[in-house]
Amino acid sequence: MKNVLHVSSECYPAAKAGGMGDVVGALPAYLPEHDILASVVIPKYKIKWFLDKIFTTIYEGTFPIGDQKQSFTVQKLTSTGMPFPFYCIDLPGLFDRDSIYLAENGQGFKDEPKRNIAFQTAVMEWLIVRYEKFDIVHVHDHMMGLIPFFMKFCPKYKKLKNNPSILSIHNGSYRGQFVWNEVKSFLPEIADSDLGVLDWDGQINSLATAIKCAWAIITVSPAYMLELVRDSDTLSPLYATELNKCQGILNGIDSKNWDPRSDTYLSEHLKSYKKEDWITFKAANKALLQEKYKLKKDRPLIGFIGRFAFQKGADLLADAIRAGLASKMKFNAFILGSGDKELEQKVMHLSNAFPGVVGTEIAYNEQLARLVYAGCDFLIMPSRFEPCGLNQLYSMRYGTVPIASHVGGLKDTVIDVINGGQGIVINTLDQNGLMNGISRAIKLFKDKKKFLKLIHTITQLDYSWNNSASLYAKLYSKYLN
Ligand code: GLC
Repeated sequence: MKNVLHVSSECYPAAKAGGMGDVVGALPAYLPEHDILASVVIPKYKIKWFLDKIFTTIYEGTFPIGDQKQSFTVQKLTSTGMPFPFYCIDLPGLFDRDSIYLAENGQGFKDEPKRNIAFQTAVMEWLIVRYEKFDIVHVHDHMMGLIPFFMKFCPKYKKLKNNPSILSIHNGSYRGQFVWNEVKSFLPEIADSDLGVLDWDGQINSLATAIKCAWAIITVSPAYMLELVRDSDTLSPLYATELNKCQGILNGIDSKNWDPRSDTYLSEHLKSYKKEDWITFKAANKALLQEKYKLKKDRPLIGFIGRFAFQKGADLLADAIRAGLASKMKFNAFILGSGDKELEQKVMHLSNAFPGVVGTEIAYNEQLARLVYAGCDFLIMPSRFEPCGLNQLYSMRYGTVPIASHVGGLKDTVIDVINGGQGIVINTLDQNGLMNGISRAIKLFKDKKKFLKLIHTITQLDYSWNNSASLYAKLYSKYLN
């Protein structure tokens, strides 16, 4: 079997901040059936999951960074907890913190450039002694974007010069940009003539570097690939130049972990895929959510789960909910998320202004998220851009109809019921567009027969990794031969 190493900053259930964690924690488990053994390496954080796991140190090393020496150990998980070989790298002083990206004040860690380069250097240090073990190095997002460059251009790592590297882009709006003179001393030795490869717009740009150096560039949906080429501000010309190695592969979901019949986060499970069991399942979970947040009964419940970031459009949603309720539209909303502090305030005010109608929990909470997928009638995603979006896939698996904007992966997965599809598409992403989507949802909910039929249809769709894993296997084999 050929070996692929996934290098990432997140891997569910060890460390997850968003969908990338889900993908890295699921895809590798689906590859062995396609003759690929995939392993994962991430930094060792001081977060809960790691505490009761057993790791064996398999490699120890040090490397210079700035005028200091950084020690590190590569550790392999030897207890249960991951369905594939899982490694983490312990970098004392840099990653042994209780959060993945953010300091207590909600801002990124101040030493982010150093941390970031140190982890990628540690991966390289380990790979040059174990380079025969992995046939392909697959890196995720800008955080790991320097690795394809280090493999190609660092004299110290020249053993890896001809090893293929692949970049997955989960979010192309984050670039990992560093100011040259603040960061140059952290980099491993590189010939002056090669330094320019790291540069884009006068800065070190980790994403641009990876786009130039990786053998293949994957976006997490086909539609998002086209959007990046068309509209990535100063990076668009780079995507256009590298187009022949770019491809979109739609994410899947881990249908074993996300199973309404056995989800360990839920207390009310689906008995079977029969229509009447879906009714019972949805009603029981909706009741739990209504009770917990004291929401009125007999109204359609529209959920939102996500980071309060520009991308996800929660600001638009809060305004649309307020305007809709003010104009006497009859629905309940439940918002689960956290992020931008102003937006958190805005959502809390909204919930206080409409008691019994708008419930909210300002948190990142996996358990509650599962109840929202299971208990809502609709899940709304007013994303301004969405590389793939997994929430619409999770929601459909749990019998919840998506209301989604027409961008990126949402375009690939949510077709409007008007066009024979399985959701409600928000065509104009503004307050009126959202209110229109909500009003169509209310109407659909009232037509019980049609609504039930739709639930039945969406729960039959297969968005598991089975399909996409075979596309990855095909991609890998192209570079292995
Ligand atoms: C990021 C993107 C999201 C995608 C996920 C997994 O979180 O914003 O659209 O589904 O990565 O690839």
